[in-house]
This record gives sequence, C-alpha cells and structure tokens, in this order.
Amino acid sequence: MNILAVESSCDETAVAVVQDGRRVLTDCIASQVALHRLYGGVVPEIASRKHMEAIYALADEALETAGITRQDLDAIAVTAAPGLIGAVLVGVNFAKAAALALDKPLVPVHHIRGHIAANYIAYPDLKPPFLCLVVSGGHSLLVDVEDYTVFRILGTTRDDAAGECFDKVARLLGMPYPGGAALDQAARSGDPGKYPMPHTHLSGNPLDMSFSGLKTASINLIHNAGQKGEALDIPALCASFSQAVSDILVPRTMAALEQTGRKTLAVAGGVAANSQIRADLQRETERRGARLCLPPLKLCGDNAAMIGAQGYFEYQAGVRAGQDLNAYATMPLDRLPWV
Ligand code: KG4
Ligand code: ZN
Repeated sequence: MNILAVESSCDETAVAVVQDGRRVLTDCIASQVALHRLYGGVVPEIASRKHMEAIYALADEALETAGITRQDLDAIAVTAAPGLIGAVLVGVNFAKAAALALDKPLVPVHHIRGHIAANYIAYPDLKPPFLCLVVSGGHSLLVDVEDYTVFRILGTTRDDAAGECFDKVARLLGMPYPGGAALDQAARSGDPGKYPMPHTHLSGNPLDMSFSGLKTASINLIHNAGQKGEALDIPALCASFSQAVSDILVPRTMAALEQTGRKTLAVAGGVAANSQIRADLQRETERRGARLCLPPLKLCGDNAAMIGAQGYFEYQAGVRAGQDLNAYATMPLDRLPWV
C-alpha cells in the first residue's frame, strides 16, 4: 500500500511516499530553517506562506523520485495536529484537495504519533508494545505505546519542552536557531560538573517533568556573568546544562520502564539527537537489559516519512477523514476528534 504523506506543522514542508508503513520510497523536505534563523525563531506567518509556495512542487518531486504515478497511490496521510495552526492548515488543505482530486482515502495523523512511528522505519522488526520517550521542540512526554494506535501518556512536562529550553539557552549564548544542535556540539569539550544546576522536585506524578527552573537558572547565570563582565566557560555551561536535561529525562524514563515492565525503549523527536541524552540512555538501558531504539538523526527531526508510517497504521485501524477535516494547534495524542 502506497501512502502519500504530508507534513507542514512547523518550519519544514515535507512530502514522502511510504509503502506498507515501513518502506520509504522517497522523503522530500523543503526546510525553512535558514529563513527563520534571521529572526531567531519560527515566524508563523512566514512558515505558512513558505509551505504554500513549496508544497505542490514538493509533492510532484516526491512522486517522481519514488518512481510512481498519482494512480499508484492508495491513500493520502497528513499531519492534522498539533502545530502552528496556519502551517498545519496548509498541509491539511493540500491533502484534502489531493484526496478529492485522486479519489483516495484521507488519513489524518497526530504529529507526535508520527514522531513515534519514525521508529517503525528505523527498526523494521519493532512492534508495540514498547515505551517511548518523546522529546521535541514543543513536546516532552513518556508514552506507553500499547498498540499502533493505542497510547497511554505516563508523564509529561508541566511547563516548557526540553527542546524549547535548549533553543532558549543556545540563543542567549549567541548560537543560531535552532540552537540545540550547536549547544550539543559545544558541550562535547566541556566539563559537565563546572556549573551546578538546580534539581526541581515536583509533587504528584513522579514521571512528570519540569524544565523551566533549569532554563531560568541558566538564563540568570548568563545574565549575571554579563553584568559582572565575567567570562563564561561556554563549553562547560553547555555540558552542565545538557547533563541537567538528561538527568531529568533519563531517570524518569528508566522508572517508566520499570513501572510498565516494557523491555523496549524507543526515542522520538529532535532532542533525541542530543549526544549526552543518547549516551545516558544507551548506558542505562544496557544496564537493565532493555532494547534501545534510537532512530537516525534524519528521522528524529520533522519529516513526512514518519507521517506515512503512522498513517498506514491509522488506515489499518480504520481511521478516515472527510472533506470537513480541520487542523488543530493543540491536541493530546491519546484522544483524537476524528476517531
Ligand atoms: O522534533 P523536532 O524536529 O521539531 C518539533 O516537532 O518540535 O525538534 C526540534 C528540536 C529543536 O528544539 C532543536 O533545537 C532540538 O530539537 N535539537 C536538539 C539537538 N538537535 C536538535 N536538542 C539538543 N541536542 C541536539 N543535538
Ligand atoms: Zn516534530
């Protein structure tokens, strides 16, 4: 089954063709990152307009590079939530038009479910149930993936997402947007013990996370040093910060593995590219004899192949949308309006 998948929820316009949920025939991306870098972050209206310009040609390119025709498609899958609303609307509208014109079923996909499904592409033998740590620019959560379309949220951030904090601290250090990768690079030569970072204690669900205290402490540290004219040890600060984020994420993830009894941990989202977090997850899963699935960097960030993968499983579960499908800025991944 060939699915044409469309993703436009943030600053990447992406169209892919995915066969039977796991075989990527093509994965085309038109990234707007360089453009938004001029402004230090994503400018929503510019993102929407760029999606409008790029999407049609990108879909043609996808079919051409996949070596198939429009008639070879069996369904159209699209990210319908969550994301920048103007940006998501462009992809949804395009997918609706394509489904109508080609008379193919339309399958809405939750963006975070897509991030999780990137693991099905990277690990063709991976099947639910498994535990997934989702860490992206907008989301940080621990999810028990009971089945391809059945999810149970075990813990979530109470405030900022991990990626948001990486980007904010990186920006203050003068690194180009999105700064997570640059901060990670700088951290590699730094001493993670040099700058003590706060440890936030939360009441309630022990698997919930909080990153805002860490973000504020880092911001204050940078501002104070600036005011006093003191030089900061940038690699050490980046290493201390990265270690602190990992120290929030990794112990909770291990506790979730123990709580659920799952033997496989999958990781999803752009922050999964972080070298400290990857190393800590690798060490801790090995220690427990659990399997760790860490998709390659290309599949961790936003792409349409992951939407095609999840779209396939949603299709198999009977999920369809009509021409009245809407786009949604926010939506929990375990309660979808179109099911
Ligand atoms: O999943 P993603 O591509 O987009 C969202 O759906 O949010 O994640 C992007 C986030 C950005 O915050 C970016 O700075 C972060 O992932 N990121 C990293 C690294 N590479 C990307 N954060 C830390 N270390 C990295 N190596
Ligand atoms: Zn994403």
